[in-house]
Amino acid sequence: MKINPSPEELASLFSPNSKVVVLTGAGVSAESGVATFRDKTTGLWSRFNPKELANFTSFLKDPKLVWDWYDFRKQAIHTVQPNPGHFALVEMENLFSDFTLVTQNIDNLHQRAGSAKIIELHGNIERNYCIKCGRFKIEIEELPPTCESCGGLVRPDVVWFGENLPEDALRIAWQKSEECTIFMVVGTSAEVFPAARLPYEASKNGATLIVINPDETPVSVVSDFHVFEKSGIFLPQLVNALKKKLNG
Ligand code: OAD
Repeated sequence: MKINPSPEELASLFSPNSKVVVLTGAGVSAESGVATFRDKTTGLWSRFNPKELANFTSFLKDPKLVWDWYDFRKQAIHTVQPNPGHFALVEMENLFSDFTLVTQNIDNLHQRAGSAKIIELHGNIERNYCIKCGRFKIEIEELPPTCESCGGLVRPDVVWFGENLPEDALRIAWQKSEECTIFMVVGTSAEVFPAARLPYEASKNGATLIVINPDETPVSVVSDFHVFEKSGIFLPQLVNALKKKLNG
């Protein structure tokens, strides 16, 4: 593994025909001011117990508690903006005909920045659905919200512990990972499966693996490059180098 390659060195690996997959996690939003999960001091899971808040049984037991927590996070996200890392990924999407952004984030910041080719593996905090009739986009008037058509309990459209990932999203992410020539792992601890399997699948099939993370991750073992830098700093540098290389 090569440590801290320059943006130009990484850019030299790409061509207009590269098939690019980028897997992102909470670290990409850290510079926007959104807390990550596993940071020992500021991470969400250091302050809240995931077993109490992010699973279906707890939700059924105390929907108001779970909704209060998601509402708190949603309001916090509404006060922040996408950062240069998010915007760099939008620019990257426009440089390649085969580009896929796979995110574990539910914060909607990639979408607000303008990313279009995006696969959401863990849902999106802005959406909800009724657990009884399956209806989406229910207007929230009070917490916990109930469905205006059937009166059923409404839940956030996010994946909780013990739940399967959305089938189509995972299938396409898996296929794109197997087919890609360059796989970038950005701002994720790469500890949560099945998302964390994707870089290994890509590497197994011959893709070049690039990790961008100020810290070591388990994927670093199989990666070709590790950039120990914040995504909001490095991704814009990489995009500038890519533009020079690809657009001349
Ligand atoms: P984690 O909190 O596990 O990891 C965040 C990663 O971002 C860490 O490896 C940090 O080193 C890195 N990081 C921090 N600041 C960064 C920066 N400015 N630039 C780049 N990297 C930075 O978050 P995730 O990997 O996203 O799942 O967690 C995966 C899943 O675990 C989440 O989607 C969530 C959680 O349980 C569900 O809710 C289903």
